[in-house]
Amino acid sequence: MTAERIGTTAELEVNKAHRVVLSGVPIVVVKDAAGVVYAIGDTCTHGDISLAEGFVEDDAIECWAHGSMFSLTTGKPLTLPAYEPVPVYAVTVDADGVITIDPNEKVAVS
Ligand code: FES
Repeated sequence: MTAERIGTTAELEVNKAHRVVLSGVPIVVVKDAAGVVYAIGDTCTHGDISLAEGFVEDDAIECWAHGSMFSLTTGKPLTLPAYEPVPVYAVTVDADGVITIDPNEKVAVS
C-alpha cells in the first residue's frame, strides 16, 4: 500500500479536525497554526467515536463523548477515561503543499 494524497495544506482549516478514510482506515487530520499537519487514528480508544467530531485544542484533540484528550504528536491520551493511544501516521507535505498519508505506515512514538 502506498501513501495517498488527501489534499493540500491550503485546503485545511487551521485547528479544525478533518476526517479521511484511506484504504478503509479512518484518520483525523489537523493543521496547526504553524502549518504542521498531523494524522492520527480517528476512532477514540474508549468508545466507537470519531475524534474528528471533537475539538482541537493546542496540540491535542478532545473526544466529545467523555472528554479524553489525545496528543496529535504521539496519539497518547492525555486525560482519562481513554488510556490506550491511537495510532500516528506519517505525513508528507511536498513543496506545493500537497499532503500524502500512508495508512499502513504508523509512526513509532515513545
Ligand atoms: S468515547 Fe471517547 S472518551 Fe469516551
